[in-house]
Amino acid sequence: MMTAIGQQTAWIKGAGAHCANEKPSARQVWRLVVLGPPGVGKGTQAELLCERLGVCHLSTGDVFRACRSLPPQERAPAINAALELMQRGELVSDQVVMNIIRERASCLHCGGGFLLDGFPRTFAQAIALDALLQQEGLTLTAALNYVMNLDEIVTRLAGRRTCAACGASFHESRRPPRVLGVCDSCGGKLCQRDDDRPEAVRVRMQAYQASASPVVAFYEKRGLLRSIRAEGLPEEVFRKTMSALNGTILS
Ligand code: AP5
Repeated sequence: MMTAIGQQTAWIKGAGAHCANEKPSARQVWRLVVLGPPGVGKGTQAELLCERLGVCHLSTGDVFRACRSLPPQERAPAINAALELMQRGELVSDQVVMNIIRERASCLHCGGGFLLDGFPRTFAQAIALDALLQQEGLTLTAALNYVMNLDEIVTRLAGRRTCAACGASFHESRRPPRVLGVCDSCGGKLCQRDDDRPEAVRVRMQAYQASASPVVAFYEKRGLLRSIRAEGLPEEVFRKTMSALNGTILS
């Protein structure tokens, strides 16, 4: 039932694009959102969850990074403005984010389920997602909320290296690639993300602190919140995630 990861064509490209291989319906369809500060390991856990549960990884940050690789004349003005905000570490406007999500609403029906990473990030986005899911006749299984102390977050972000070609993420010491500076998955060049510069990290943390609590409270009130300590190796955090999810009743 598990499908290969990396089939996010419809999500990354939008505008009615289709994934090459539609995912068959899984026996258990997980529909998850992942919350947590920058660098807590959301993307790393998302990769493991996609591999093991067959869900599709839907990251709003990945959509923006893919837009950056387009020539400027092919980007809508709203996207250029969003990329400038992102580079400074600020949040993109709710309106632009929601346009991106609505344009990709078909991904919410993915046969393998989905994992929304980095969205919703504000209370307005949480409300809008709730309305969109209702409109689409879908319900969330859980909201995973990763928590960790700030020092460890700074260490993780400072050492993160991302593949310029396929987006795979590594860490200089904690999760090193087999060959220094080279992606294990595709052989691409590993680089530091623009927004992992210390001045952008500070702005991202402030943006997170200002917007996160109402989102966390929103899911807590609905009984969907699963908070998980994110210290430890990725596999350990994954085990904690699965045990938090095992208490989740599927609808
Ligand atoms: P986004 O791409 O969503 O980034 P983020 O939330 O800042 O999260 P990161 O990708 O930085 O970290 P992560 O938690 O995924 O950590 P990772 O697994 O890589 O958003 C980027 C920007 O886009 C935003 O700032 C904003 O401008 C804009 N944006 C996106 N969505 C938006 C929205 N909805 N609304 C408004 N604006 C939006 O791990 C980090 C490092 O640690 C890696 O090197 C990894 O290898 C390592 N690591 C991970 N887990 C472990 C572990 N257990 N032990 C040791 N090392 C680990």
